[in-house]
Amino acid sequence: MLRRVTAMWCGVLAASLPLPAQAADAPLERVRGVRVALERHRGAGGAAEADVRLWPAFAVAVERDETPSPFLSPGLFRATLTAEVELALRDRRRFRLEGRGRAELSVNGHKVLDGALRPGRPLETAAAVRLDKGPNRLQLVFDSAAVGDGEVRLSWAGDEFGFEPIAPESLTVPVDAALQAGESRRHGHALFAARQCARCHDPEPQRLGESAFAELDAAGPDLRAIGARVRQDWLAAWLRDPRRFRADASMPRFRFERDGDADDVAAWLAGSGSPPTAPEFTDDQAAAGGSRFRELGCVACHEEPDRQSMPGALAARLPLGFVAAKWQPAALVAYLQAPQRDHPHARMPDFRLSREDALALAAHLLRAASSAEPLPVSRGDARRGRSLVQRSGCIDCHAVDTPLGAPRAPQLANLDPARGCLAEGGHARAPDHGLEPVERAALRAFLPFAGAAPWRRSPSDFAARQLEAQRCTACHALDGTPSLWARWATATAAAEPLPPQQDPVAQGIPSLTWVGAKLQPSWLEGFVRGRLPSPRPWLTARMPAFDLHGAGIASGLVRRHGHGAGDEPPVPADAQLALHGERLLAMGRGFGCVQCHAVGEQPAVQVFERAGIELLTARQRLRHEYYTRWLRDPTRLDAESRMPRYADAKGRTSLTEVLRGDAAAQFEAIWQHLGSRTTQGR
Ligand code: HEC
Ligand code: HEC
Ligand code: HEC
Ligand code: HEC
Ligand code: HEC
Repeated sequence: MLRRVTAMWCGVLAASLPLPAQAADAPLERVRGVRVALERHRGAGGAAEADVRLWPAFAVAVERDETPSPFLSPGLFRATLTAEVELALRDRRRFRLEGRGRAELSVNGHKVLDGALRPGRPLETAAAVRLDKGPNRLQLVFDSAAVGDGEVRLSWAGDEFGFEPIAPESLTVPVDAALQAGESRRHGHALFAARQCARCHDPEPQRLGESAFAELDAAGPDLRAIGARVRQDWLAAWLRDPRRFRADASMPRFRFERDGDADDVAAWLAGSGSPPTAPEFTDDQAAAGGSRFRELGCVACHEEPDRQSMPGALAARLPLGFVAAKWQPAALVAYLQAPQRDHPHARMPDFRLSREDALALAAHLLRAASSAEPLPVSRGDARRGRSLVQRSGCIDCHAVDTPLGAPRAPQLANLDPARGCLAEGGHARAPDHGLEPVERAALRAFLPFAGAAPWRRSPSDFAARQLEAQRCTACHALDGTPSLWARWATATAAAEPLPPQQDPVAQGIPSLTWVGAKLQPSWLEGFVRGRLPSPRPWLTARMPAFDLHGAGIASGLVRRHGHGAGDEPPVPADAQLALHGERLLAMGRGFGCVQCHAVGEQPAVQVFERAGIELLTARQRLRHEYYTRWLRDPTRLDAESRMPRYADAKGRTSLTEVLRGDAAAQFEAIWQHLGSRTTQGR
């Protein structure tokens, strides 16, 4: 049988990528991931609800007041997770289930685990289960706990490695019609939020402001002083066609009555403020800006305006060639320093740039973009423009300085999916959203749920949409797919040598594959929101702040690995063990962890190749479970890791005189020692 494996689950891209259409008799296309079928059973008389989705792991986590899917109402549910894992040779594995609820695991059709799950009481196979060479089918059926909440996590262990989740890149499933339909609805959900459909199509009786994670609150920039920021010619060109500047613009193209209307609106908007004095940029600044543009990872999301476009996935990066024609220079500097100031929902992330960096980047962008084709000169009638703004419903999405009586679009509940914005070939009175046929199909599949889904809390779905919308995978690898930035570096290094500070791989930007299982939820949230200091202060690159959606994204990343909202409960302190820990960290008589890792105020002795994170910080941010896995064998979590492995396959280390050379006890001793030195002592 033809077994084609597509990297469909390249990260959580599946949320927006349509799955391939399939002829009835064609061999099934396989995609990476786990198929999750969800069912919500209602009492007598109530209709059953069902949903299918693709997921990276054998894990589910749902807290009270959440649902496993925005397409199911909250309450008792069953999740059936299936996937195949391919082995190069026959082998034996032990399996373990942890969580809360009821679970049943079968391997190649044989039931191997079955029972109730309680915190701290995992189910484990008594003997190793034989797996075949080639594909092995795993099925996990999970029933939620009492109030439709619960958690389940599957891990396995072999002769060569201890219990760990199955790596996302080794799981595949065939695509079937139900999976395709579920992913299409999800694609529609993402578009519905990104294109802000609910701004014009009033969702009464539920109000916009009450959507889960405030997702439907998104609106456009404040236009009350837009004239001080951007040029009139650009305003007119934007209003004629936003997608000319940005393929994924949220703002639709309005079908104005006549051609000069865009010029009239631009004239009115341009009069709303006068530009501040432009700074004098120097050649040195522009040159420094060109380097910063690469070092900070702007190249991960944007094309370099003075370079040719690059093919493949890199073609999806946003162009900036029009920046000189759009921006007043001083306003551009201010924008780079605080992109959310006039537009809280802007997807340009906040790098907390210094003024020096912002000036350098602006100097570089304005020069590099100055050769772009100029925009046509726009002149218009501002008074007419004002009345057009009043009549066009701009106020649905923008703060504007004019009293309005905008016409309303039909209410959300009554939309005919074949008409208006979704009509084939467009519609004279509806705005143009530039939808591709698959996008239109996805929105039609989503519309029946549009009155409910956005108000249900499903953090895993929310995070999947946001990882995509915020382009996290531009900078981060995920589930075996390298970041766009790394792909840019590979392509660029083939033509010109890249200094290490411009190379994300040499820098060691962490992958996102395990973050939800690695980091304590509170640390993860604080870090994504930009509220915690960097654990890797030596990096030239930095993690930008995502304050607005950081909390929702973090909770979704944690659920992705089957964990609930709270931090891991503290491991009980053991003063006896902690005494050994200090010695184990040291050079000479210990493992010499302090060679690469600072501990508190004590700097690392001598960093070899790449520095390690300060260990008291590490103790506070990591889950105990992850720490244990990491020390057992770092390369199983990060193939590129420079951290040595201290334990052999039998769980022994070379330091036999401490705790009888038992690796697990020694690593626990280090954890205990670090815990005794941190203020929280978790
Ligand atoms: C700028 C406001 C605006 C936005 C944003 C908007 N629409 Fe519309 N939509 C309209 C207007 C106005 C009409 C009515 C056209 C007419 O008069 O028939 C309409 C009509 C429709 C209709 C047909 C309704 C019917 O029953 O005749 C559908 C379906 C629709 N829109 C879906 C969407 C979707 C999906 C989105 C998001 C991608 C969206 N709209 C975004 C303004 C908007
Ligand atoms: C994670 C992706 C991402 C990264 C990284 C990123 N940007 Fe952006 N940027 C965006 C998006 C998306 C927009 C479009 C506007 C929006 O939605 O906020 C944007 C908009 C811009 C704009 C305004 C374009 C316009 O339409 O006026 C400039 C200028 C800009 N970015 C410069 C930079 C610079 C300089 C860096 C590096 C410090 C950078 N960006 C890094 C995603 C990114
Ligand atoms: C459905 C919501 C929506 C409506 C309605 C809407 N806009 Fe927008 N507009 C946006 C969003 C969102 C952006 C930010 C850029 C993007 O991602 O599309 C934007 C950007 C803009 C910008 C560029 C601002 C900048 O700093 O780059 C202008 C100008 C603008 N809109 C004018 C208008 C006018 C005039 C109208 C009425 C004719 C209008 N918009 C109606 C959502 C909307
Ligand atoms: C411009 C590139 C860039 C973008 C875009 C980006 N990150 Fe990061 N991220 C980084 C860098 C660099 C680090 C390492 C920072 C450090 O340790 O100080 C990092 C670190 C992290 C970490 C900590 C990981 C660990 O093991 O310590 C998390 C979690 C994270 N990012 C999540 C996200 C999420 C979620 C998004 C999207 C909302 C995102 N990142 C977008 C560059 C980026
Ligand atoms: C040869 C250098 C080196 C030595 C020796 C070393 N490490 Fe590491 N360690 C690293 C590197 C490099 C990383 C990865 C840091 C990163 O993700 O940027 C790391 C990561 C870690 C992490 C994860 C930190 C986090 O917060 O993400 C822990 C915990 C850790 N090391 C503990 C130890 C312990 C305990 C020892 C001694 C038993 C030790 N290391 C010895 C280089 C070293």
